[in-house]
Amino acid sequence: MAAVREPVLEAVDLCYTYPDGTVALENLSLIIPAGAKVALLGANGAGKTTLFLLLAGLARPAAGEIRFRGAAVGRNRRELLALRRSVGLVFQDPEAQIFAPTVWEEVAFGPVNQGLRGETLEERVKAALAATALWELRDKAPHFLSYGQKKRLCLAAVLALAPAVMLLDEPTAGLDVEQTHRVLGILEELHRAGRTLVLATHDVDMAYTWADTVYIFGRGQVLGGGAPEVVFADAALIRRAGLRLPVVLSFYQALRERGLVAGGKVPRDLAALVALLPPVAAGVGEGRGGW
Ligand SMILES: Nc1ncnc2c1ncn2[C@@H]1O[C@H](COP(=O)(O)OP(=O)(O)O)[C@@H](O)[C@H]1O
Ligand SMILES: [Mg+2]
Repeated sequence: MAAVREPVLEAVDLCYTYPDGTVALENLSLIIPAGAKVALLGANGAGKTTLFLLLAGLARPAAGEIRFRGAAVGRNRRELLALRRSVGLVFQDPEAQIFAPTVWEEVAFGPVNQGLRGETLEERVKAALAATALWELRDKAPHFLSYGQKKRLCLAAVLALAPAVMLLDEPTAGLDVEQTHRVLGILEELHRAGRTLVLATHDVDMAYTWADTVYIFGRGQVLGGGAPEVVFADAALIRRAGLRLPVVLSFYQALRERGLVAGGKVPRDLAALVALLPPVAAGVGEGRGGW
């Protein structure tokens, strides 16, 4: 079990309706523990992006409250700006975020706005570019970057702001295997460094393996939340959210039903599942490649 951690960000009964009358969030509450890897999981249109806009101080809730480190965030501009400094949002669409003429300037923009200059600024930008493997591309025009590089640039630009919490909207959507691996590697480093990460996705396999806390979204509400193996044990809930069980979990359950693996810790990734399989009888399967 993970240690009990202080909540860093909380949504309490949040409601939000778009000007055209679409109800996007309805009395939505959740807790983001400090240092956690939280996945918001839900079908398209469930309200994940809308919640991010509110949590990052880019839109005001119609009702309800956001709390940062236990204190309610007021509705005035000053408090929203303070929230924006503490909570960084990496947009799903890089084109919506990128605007500077070079990679370096894109990443430097936020820190310059925060008042950083000289060596402190250089160091901050350098660190963000190094963490996202973009240092070599620092003088390039973002326009000419690949989609995967653009996604990493957006991550770097938010990272350079040194926010307490990073909200990542579908950070691996549309990426190939290698680019996905890179982004997940960067997130792992950030997690190890103590950063709080919240990731919105509709990828159940990724959420199940990556997160230590999962919230299931459905039609602007949180339908369930907790440790991944607990949340996904409720198959009816997952179905209600328009999602499916993770492949690793489905396969584990099928093996258990057939008595092919013993009970115990539910595997969260393929390696853990394979480790549960009984050893192959001597002489059988020898010389085959690994997984
Ligand atoms: N700018 C907008 N104007 C009107 N409705 C919107 C707008 N953006 C999102 N919505 C609606 O709000 C709901 C939640 O959307 P969104 O937060 O984008 O969900 P998700 O990120 O989970 O896919 C959906 O019904 C969507 O159609
Ligand atoms: Mg979205």
